[in-house]
Formats: sequence, C-alpha cells, structure tokens
Amino acid sequence: NIKPDIKWLGTPIHELKRMPECGRQLPPLKDIPGQHTVMIRTDLLHKSKVPVAYPTYFKDVWDNVHVKMPCSSSSLFPVKDEPQDGAKTPKVGRYTMFFRICFHFLFQNAILKYNASYAQKWDFTALKLYCTKVSNVNISMMIDHVYVYLKSQKHVKSLLPIPLLKRGMNHSITMSQEQVACLLANAFFCTFPRRSSRKTEYRNYPDINFVRLFDGSSSSKIEKLKTLMCYFKSVTEQKPTGLVTFTRKSLQRPPDWKSSQTPLTKLHITCEGTIEDDGYGMLQVDFANQFVGGGVTGSGLVQEEIRFLINPELIVSRLFTEALDHNECLVITGTQQYSKYTGYAQTYQWGGKHQDTTPSDGWQRKCTEIVAIDALQFRSFLEQFSPERINRELNKAYCGFARPEEPSQNLSAVATGNWGCGVFGGDARLKALLQMLASAEAARDVAYFTFGDSKLMKDVHNMHAFLTQNNIRVGEVYDLLGQYYSTVCRSCLSRCPDVSLYSFIYQQVSSSLVPDQSDSHSARQ
Ligand code: AR6
Repeated sequence: NIKPDIKWLGTPIHELKRMPECGRQLPPLKDIPGQHTVMIRTDLLHKSKVPVAYPTYFKDVWDNVHVKMPCSSSSLFPVKDEPQDGAKTPKVGRYTMFFRICFHFLFQNAILKYNASYAQKWDFTALKLYCTKVSNVNISMMIDHVYVYLKSQKHVKSLLPIPLLKRGMNHSITMSQEQVACLLANAFFCTFPRRSSRKTEYRNYPDINFVRLFDGSSSSKIEKLKTLMCYFKSVTEQKPTGLVTFTRKSLQRPPDWKSSQTPLTKLHITCEGTIEDDGYGMLQVDFANQFVGGGVTGSGLVQEEIRFLINPELIVSRLFTEALDHNECLVITGTQQYSKYTGYAQTYQWGGKHQDTTPSDGWQRKCTEIVAIDALQFRSFLEQFSPERINRELNKAYCGFARPEEPSQNLSAVATGNWGCGVFGGDARLKALLQMLASAEAARDVAYFTFGDSKLMKDVHNMHAFLTQNNIRVGEVYDLLGQYYSTVCRSCLSRCPDVSLYSFIYQQVSSSLVPDQSDSHSARQ
C-alpha cells in the first residue's frame, strides 16, 4: 500500500526537459506558400509591440479553401422591405448591416436580425442571466469589451484570407493574438457566414459562432461566460503582443511498432497537479474531440473545454480546422492563459484573472505548446484491446508527440494524463502504457498527471519500473498487448477480462525470465 504522503514517483520532474530551455534557435519566421501562412509583417516584429497585420488591405476571397469572412462583399443579406430592383430581392453587405443594426438594437436583437432564420430557435437565457445576476451591467456595457475588437473593422479587414486546414493537409497558420481576439469577437457576435447550421458546407467543422453558449439557464454556462468575458476584458485593457501558430499534421509513415527496439523513456508520475499548471514548457496534451474544442461553445466542460476557456485563443482553431482524421493532430503554440478556475465539469467555476508569465520564443509566441489528439470513444471495455484500436491510438499519440524534424535533445517532455479515459471511457492503465510507447518512439520523456488517483500513480510507476529494469523494448510491449488480446480478451464472455492487463504482463515477462530475475520481481510485488 502506498503511503498517503507520497505524491509522485519515478524521475523527479525537474529532470524533465521544458521549453524554452531545451529548444533550439528558431529559423526566421516566414510565409511559405502551401506550408505556412503568416498573417503579420515579420519584418516589423518587435518584442512587446503589437504585431502589424499583413496585408494592410482586405483581400476578399469567397471560395471553398478559405474561411468565409463576415466582411466579404459576397456575404450578402437579402432585404425585403427596401426598393425592389426588377424581380430580384435587393441585397446589402451583411456585415455593414450588422453594424447598422448594432447601433439601434441591443445585442440579442442584433444577433437575431443578423441570423434571421434562427430568430425563433435561438435562446439567450444564459446571457441575460449573466448580465443581470452576475455582472449587473446592461448588455451594451457588457459587450463593450468584445465590441471594441469587432468595431475596429480594420482588424478583420486586414486579415489575409485564412486557409481552411482541411483533412490530410500539413499546414501552419501564424497570426497575432490581436487578430485572434478580433476573430473571437466576431465568433461572440455570431457573424461568421454559413457557420450557424451543421447542414451547410461546414458540416465537418466545429461550431465557431457562440450562439449555443448563450442558451439555457445552467450555472456552468454563466461560469463559461465569466471566463470568456475575462478574456475579452483583458485583451481590450491591454493589447496582447504575441503570435500564435496553429499546425495541422498528419502521420505519413507510422512506426513499425512490432519490431521496434526503442527503450522506454523516463517517467515522472504524480497524483497532484494538472497538465496546464505543472506541465509548463512541456508538450501539453489536449484530450480532444475530433472537432477540436469539443463542446466549448456549447455545454461541454471537461479537460478540453476547460483548457479552451482559460486559454481562449485556442477557440479560434475551430474556425478553420476540419474534423481530425485517425492519423492527424493539431498543434497550437503560443496561446496565453487569461483565467484561473476551480472545480471540474458540473462544479467548474471561473477563478479570477490569471497573469501568464510564460516566457516567449523567438517568434514572439508564449512557450505553451498544446497538442489536440482525439482518443477513440469506447462503449464496451474490451474493444479497446483489439489490435486495430491499439494501432489507432498508438499512431494518434505518436502523430501528436513526434517531431522528426527536431533533434531529440531539443524536445520537451510530454505532459499528459488520463487521455480518453473520462468521457471517452478508456482504461487508464492501457492508455498510460500506449502513451509511454508513443513517447518513447518520439524520443520524449513523460510527465503523467493522474488527477488525484494515487493507486493509478503507483500501478503505472511499477509497470514502467518493471519494464525498464528488465530492458523490455517498445516492440516487446506491443507484442504483449497483442497476446493479451488474443489469449484473454477474445475469449472473454463477461464485460471485464478475468486477468488484468498489468497482471498478464507481469506473468508473461516473469515466466520468460531466468529464475533469479523473476524472483527479484516477485519480491518487489
Ligand atoms: N490535467 C490532468 N488531467 C486531467 C485534467 C487536467 N487539467 N483534467 C481532467 N483530467 P476527459 P476524454 C483527467 O473526460 O475521455 C471532451 O468533451 C481526469 O481524470 O476530458 O478524452 C472532448 O471535447 C479526466 O477524467 O477526456 C471530447 O469530446 C480525464 O483526464 C471528450 O471530452 C479525461 O478527461 C474527450 O474525453
């Protein structure tokens, strides 16, 4: 039994690598057609100055490879009561219309007029409750912070056409935090065309307009609004000066897991702390949905949604990131944390403003690298042990962790935890092992946060220590997983296997060892 005062096991956390200390010097930031879209003037980039947008005029594109912008001249609004021109219904620029309406009506009316076909369906209860009960301000005062960004149309009009990060693409977008704020202000006001119904061309994209955030009367919606208003207030009071990069990556060639001779890397495991607080400077895992951000603009409120709320710049990825495929991930570098929080899920509460002191890299991005990887959702316990599912999860994690272009000494550790083991119903002991294999193959150490579970901390630590002491390589562990499936899971008639995965591994490995080694293992058990 583990002593209650033991809070961590394995390698001390200070021995694991973090950015910026472990990183190499970045090459100059530049736009590379087909690979990296840079939306600011790199020649004018200066520490602690707000980056200058590039170009300074609005390049109006309306096609199926870029985000359709609200200010586009093609974003039109039919006006029935204006003078008719022949048989056609006259149209006015939809965005201009929005500003006209905004000056005359309050927020709710403006959004509904702008999205007329939803007037009967959309509900603003949460927003009204936030305004009356929480902040005790009228709506127009409340939206001031958001509106500042929206109103200065120069921001949105000076954006380069934003490429859609579609399935299979390997592409990065770098934009300033100020540009992100402007896009998020538009999302708050629900101005993105074709994005309010899942039936449209964007059905395979996450929701970006915030409308679902405003409905219902649950207290968690109010807490979400408090968190987001803290962000808008912060960025209007003091303009952020950094950049954020969004990179969609697909795994071209998966490792040959079966024949891998790679040894496991170091593991620090703790039942205290969180990925975001204690994994600073590491590659932080977002337990994602294939639609990145999951239910952040709706009612979801677990690991991914909370991260997107406290670092709201993550939310803008929903504007252009098509649903992730099995071999894909999204890496977001440079987002800032604006809020603290307490609780989790139903007990989540906004915990006040956060001062993010994370240092920045050579591209003026906060050294916060977050990788969105979506685990599979399991309805039955046994299915996750099948070789296809194991391959899928290993390759997904490897896609998120591997940086083949970086020398391994420059790679920070992976900060992770019970990926896929909450809402998605996976087994934490299996997932911990899979993430250890993927990290080893990607040449990164692991900081694992069990989120309060000290038994899990002990079990995973013992397994890691056993495998490393016996010099068991990635390929051998992979093989043991396959044996577990074929000898235990496949023939199993009940919901759970009779022999647990870890007991099976201990048995198999011990029985294949020379007697004195297996004795030493039995003694440790
Ligand atoms: N740091 C470390 N561990 C954490 C943290 C944290 N900050 N927060 C939670 N955990 P879950 P999933 C642990 O359910 O199963 C979202 O809606 C805690 O033990 O968020 O992959 C997404 O959009 C928790 O039970 O991840 C997807 O739709 C466990 O991590 C879906 O949920 C899993 O957290 C993904 O579900």
